[in-house]
Amino acid sequence: MPAVVLVGAQWGDEGKGKATDLLGSRVEAVVKFNGGNNAGHTIVIDTERGRETFALHLLPSGILTPGCIPIIGNGVVVDLGVLFDEIDGLTARGVDTTKLVVSGSAHVITPYNRTLDKVTERFAGSRRIGTTGRGIGPTYADKMNRTGIRVQDLFDEHLLRARVTAAAEYKNQVLVKVYNRRALDVRAVIDELLGYAARLRPMVADTSLLIADMLDEGRTVVLEAAQATLLDVDHGTYPFVTSSNATAGGACTGSGVPPTRITGVIGVVKAYTTRVGEGPFPTELLDEQGDRLREAGAEFGTTTGRPRRCGWFDAVIGRYATRINGVTDYVLTKLDVLTGLEEIPVCVAYDIDGVLHEELPASQSQFARAVPIYETFPGWDEDMAKARSLDDLPRTARAYVAALEDMIRAPISAVGVGPGREEIVTVRDLLG
Ligand code: GDP
Ligand code: IMO
Ligand code: MG
Repeated sequence: MPAVVLVGAQWGDEGKGKATDLLGSRVEAVVKFNGGNNAGHTIVIDTERGRETFALHLLPSGILTPGCIPIIGNGVVVDLGVLFDEIDGLTARGVDTTKLVVSGSAHVITPYNRTLDKVTERFAGSRRIGTTGRGIGPTYADKMNRTGIRVQDLFDEHLLRARVTAAAEYKNQVLVKVYNRRALDVRAVIDELLGYAARLRPMVADTSLLIADMLDEGRTVVLEAAQATLLDVDHGTYPFVTSSNATAGGACTGSGVPPTRITGVIGVVKAYTTRVGEGPFPTELLDEQGDRLREAGAEFGTTTGRPRRCGWFDAVIGRYATRINGVTDYVLTKLDVLTGLEEIPVCVAYDIDGVLHEELPASQSQFARAVPIYETFPGWDEDMAKARSLDDLPRTARAYVAALEDMIRAPISAVGVGPGREEIVTVRDLLG
């Protein structure tokens, strides 16, 4: 089963990091294909030193698996300062980061784009997206506008100077004349980027060729998404989305792996729903039930520390994620967080202006008015952290999983019962 895509099914933070980590040493390489350091993946590993928690932002989750080659694909936007800080932080904790490979075609997040992300959000006021402020949107905008700076540009000083000067002069006009901010020192921007070149150079390769060679040898490669289906710039809740393709299609363009080589799509879905940032969220709970999910699930952003908005599971979104990504297997995470609830509501359809919708409406104006229609399932009280097979789960928990599987129309092949690497119920082999 060579090229496998792994995507988030909701609004992010489903536990993609843990799911990728779970695939472990059978995977030759993990390729991050979209996003940048807006992502935050928390991975909890039990070692001989005790329980250790790792927070990854830019590096693919495979970095924590000994022997696995982590690859930053061409579809990623890279903040080089963050990249080296993350490498240094992991190295200091004994993680081997020397296998990391970075695509020369990945775009670089420049200081002016970090500034513009923050300034435009502040300027938008109540119309803001609630971005992570990492410069993601402006960097992808430059990429599409053909004014972006790529990793490979750092190794051609003449070209880099010309490209950064042209871009920064324009950005400075915008900062000064539109937003009344101070201009950035263009030379300092160039010096900062050039300062990264020597350390970066040995990590850079033609990553699509490297992956193709691995696939030719029959190795398994995981193409790992950051963000999620509803944050996808084309298929998500636009404009409250990120600026890249976080769905399975993005795995091809963001890595250079053709669709014909992809043999499976793993969707990661939480047993309830969370969202960070602005935008519609039909099942959101603004009362103490939402607070309970936030506390029990530790729903605070890995990247910005913002409290995540919480709500019940939305099967309409799940069905949509199955369809858009062609999910072949789901990893259902955080089932344990629901323990102790007497009843668990699940949104099975929407009422929009008095009309029943069983599929996600294509119009965002309609989605913003969606009122969830709930079906309620009985809860359970038993601790499930030690469950490793479906039979170990309480009967009502098994019924909840079976009902979700039926509603989202793809098999649930693993169920998370705790944050730890071992805290997982395996139903069938995800790489089988
Ligand atoms: P990602 O962005 O999709 O990788 O997800 P995050 O790491 O941002 O958020 C998921 C959080 O849930 C992390 O803190 C994980 O350690 C934690 N987590 C993952 N799976 C489970 C699970 O099955 N149960 C519990 N309780 N926590 C989990
Ligand atoms: P992981 O990979 C949850 C959200 C932001 C904001 C919107 C746009 O951990 O699941 P951006 O900075 O990307 O321009 O912000 O997208 N967002 C995420 N929400 N998890 C993430 O990543 C996210 N990455 C971006 O909160 O609403
Ligand atoms: Mg996250």
